Amino acid sequence: MEALSCAILTLALVAALSLLSKGFFPQPQKLKLPPGPKPWPIIGNLSLIGPLPHQSLHKLSQKYGPIMKLMFGSYPVVIASSAEMARQFLKTHDHIFASRPETAAGKYTTYNYKNLTWAPHGPYWRQGRKIYLSHLFSSKVLDSVEYIRVEENRAFLSRLCAVSGKPTMLKEHLSRLTLSIISRIVLGKKYFSVSESETSIVSLEEFQEMLNELFLLNGVLNIGDWIPWAQCLDLQGYVKRMKALKKKFDRFHDHVLDEHKANMKEVKDFVSKDMVDLLMQLAEDPDIEVKLNYDSVKGFTQDLIAGGTDTSATTVEWAMSELMKQPHLIEKATEELDIVIGRERWVEEKDIAQLHYIDAIMKETMRMHPVAVMLAPHLALEDCNVAGYDICKGTRVFINTWSMGRDPSQWNAPEEFNPDRFLGKAIDVKGQNFELLPFGSGRRMCPGYSLGLKMIRSSLANLLHGFNWKLPDNATTEDLSMEEVFGLATPRKFPLVAVLEPRLPLYLY
Ligand code: HEM
Repeated sequence: MEALSCAILTLALVAALSLLSKGFFPQPQKLKLPPGPKPWPIIGNLSLIGPLPHQSLHKLSQKYGPIMKLMFGSYPVVIASSAEMARQFLKTHDHIFASRPETAAGKYTTYNYKNLTWAPHGPYWRQGRKIYLSHLFSSKVLDSVEYIRVEENRAFLSRLCAVSGKPTMLKEHLSRLTLSIISRIVLGKKYFSVSESETSIVSLEEFQEMLNELFLLNGVLNIGDWIPWAQCLDLQGYVKRMKALKKKFDRFHDHVLDEHKANMKEVKDFVSKDMVDLLMQLAEDPDIEVKLNYDSVKGFTQDLIAGGTDTSATTVEWAMSELMKQPHLIEKATEELDIVIGRERWVEEKDIAQLHYIDAIMKETMRMHPVAVMLAPHLALEDCNVAGYDICKGTRVFINTWSMGRDPSQWNAPEEFNPDRFLGKAIDVKGQNFELLPFGSGRRMCPGYSLGLKMIRSSLANLLHGFNWKLPDNATTEDLSMEEVFGLATPRKFPLVAVLEPRLPLYLY
């Protein structure tokens, strides 16, 4: 009884003080927040978000506008859904929104934010980007590994020729292609086995599964990230899966690092041959600006493998799916290929500048199916005013590129897959045209975009150049579903199955 009256007295005192303070102290100015739905206690607006969050948010933006504010659990979230709003966050106020929020995925699957994707804005991230841009993604370095892309593309086309006439799951082949290219560039060799006679630390299948799980867990809406007191409950079981995945990757990375260490010891005046060599040398460098350790080597390596494989394969799978729905577009593409390349050789990277229709197909695919539908989350480092609205420090910002690609004020008939809309237009995908941002823009823009574009363009061009395409006997274009699955990349719900027949002389395959 005594405790209860004490509590009532305290509450009365607090209420009286707050009333009094309103009179005595000037009130902070009322904030002008972006419009949005009213949140519930604890869960905020999470109940409005379905299994495809970008589509739920697209619908909400049609009601609340191109900048809207929601609460995801305890955190304010702002969604930008127009080119102009994307420009505000990624260009005008880029320096304020160039960080990432803390997430369980960053903590458990990327060595405690030791990669680039989840690293907060600061010296570690800045140094990582510098290393990537100067040692991996400069045009000189990318040119020096063109032979890897050529060899792997040829092997990919031969594998497809070997299964010609049979229903084939394209994505499996595309993923093996991109994983082989990135592994050879970053790790120096493939490190996965494709047949039982080979001995490797993982099989291709296991490695693919690990990467699929990594992508899924890095893209999920994990309740604990949004409602801090629910973190320890791990209601969806995602954190348990993240910890299990980390163990698998750790075993893989330890093997790769041990092998690289042994190679380094063997040779006097060792010169680095791949990204792992380079990162390991940097980890030993006492003069480096921000100290790197072996977790950094693992984090960065994993970042490159994950960032570079599924993104490109998913884009090409979407492109071929859209084309198979409209076979006259395939005819248009092959007409161009026959004129520019002829039928006696494969498409090479140097030909790409002449292949305007292939370029248009790629852009149209990225408009309708940007793999990172909401980019990666950005975090406000300070309070800021955007387009007349107050955005508070700590707000998470998502740029809904999926929604932007369907903005009728920007695109004619946006629901139609029509590559012709890009012909003769000076719109590119490199972060300068805010209506089309598959790689983002500004400080956090994808550093691997030039490698990604090279892989997408040459595989797409050669798939169209090298094969006639049809659906399996029992399928029609109407059956070809365009449903998606949400994750860090947004792939097809049902993988594309097609029947391919060679189109060029057989000695080329
Ligand atoms: C089709 C190919 C690709 C697409 C569509 C793509 C898309 C993206 C997007 C949307 C972001 C986030 C941008 C933002 O937060 O605003 C990103 C970041 C990133 N991408 Fe890519 N990417 C592709 C290929 C690659 C490749 C080939 C690599 C490396 C081998 C790569 C490595 C990264 C990394 C490390 C980041 C994090 C950058 C940072 O946070 O500073 N990506 N990518």
